[in-house]
Amino acid sequence: MNTKYLSVDKNVDSLDTYPQILEAASLLQKNEVVAFPTETVYGLGGNANSDEAVAKIYEAKGRPSDNPLIIHIGEVEQIYSFVEEIPGHAQKLMEVFWPGPLTIIFKKKDGELSKKATAGLSTVAVRMPDHPVARAIIKASRLPIAAPSANRSGKPSPTTAQHVRDDLDGRIAAIVDGGPTGIGVESTVLDCTTEIPVILRPGGISREQIEEIIGEVAVDPALANEGEAPRSPGMKYTHYAPEAPLFLVKGGPEAIRQLIREKKQQGLTVGVLTTEENVSSYDADVVLACGKRASLETVAGRLYEVLREFNTTSVDIIFSETFPREGVGEAIMNRLLKAAGNKVIE
Ligand code: TXA
Ligand code: MG
Repeated sequence: MNTKYLSVDKNVDSLDTYPQILEAASLLQKNEVVAFPTETVYGLGGNANSDEAVAKIYEAKGRPSDNPLIIHIGEVEQIYSFVEEIPGHAQKLMEVFWPGPLTIIFKKKDGELSKKATAGLSTVAVRMPDHPVARAIIKASRLPIAAPSANRSGKPSPTTAQHVRDDLDGRIAAIVDGGPTGIGVESTVLDCTTEIPVILRPGGISREQIEEIIGEVAVDPALANEGEAPRSPGMKYTHYAPEAPLFLVKGGPEAIRQLIREKKQQGLTVGVLTTEENVSSYDADVVLACGKRASLETVAGRLYEVLREFNTTSVDIIFSETFPREGVGEAIMNRLLKAAGNKVIE
């Protein structure tokens, strides 16, 4: 398949009538799949009402079919056709955080939505992205759009159109390039089907932000405890891993310097994942900085890009600093632990 490349300036007015946006929307209406930017990561969108389109999404990504997709909407009204009820706490969160990086799980209403999109579950995950290009495409298509991250399954999520090309060129109908995404980690997934909502995946909206609006929320125990099966099906798969083994190192730069000395003596090529403050602290073979430790938002913004960048180097082993689990730090540590396959050096 020849993948069309559609470039869009996200800052222009009247995106709604932009030819590239209309072309993307028309491909979606023909049940083709199209990658586009959101404020978190690039998504691979398809008509959520069509088994055919949804099958193409799973196929292009190589994604297991028991892992449900998030339904993306452009206007709140769209959700009434496939959501059974909107609980009070969810209503409040929608008012504050939509559009934005909060995915809410509702009880599903039987209707047009493809059962493949929700992997046969009785619940449905919904989000309204806060990105002008994503919103314009969804609105122009007049469809609910199922959209996982636009990476090959297991790879870090894409934060640029080039990342999407690297993974999916030739496998999808089009890539809409609207520049790099902002937040850099995926949306927070919050199950609102229970009396006390449960965070199934930490992401762009922090636990603290949610609790400010609706009071205490729970966190899926599987996020902390390795033994439990996660309730968000996608969380059970290995993800984000660079090709070389990655270890998270507690104990600060001195602990990492010690490990670099050891591994170099063994003849290994060593990589370090750090932040701008510490780049000159290490004499490893490859030292990559993701943002500034003083601003965890900048770390989230660069994380996946840096994980991908290690694959263009010939490192044998990678050591990463750890981050405080506050605000978006919770999502950063969640993704780093997955990328490391939970290998932590105390
Ligand atoms: O920021 C994002 O959320 C990005 C952009 C493209 O919007 N999308 C994204 O989708 O990260 P994906 O498919 O890569 O991750 C969706 C997560 C998976 O862990 C999936 O298992 C979970 O949401 N999920 C979807 N529907 C669910 C449901 N009904 N119950 C529990 N978890 C669900
Ligand atoms: Mg994903």
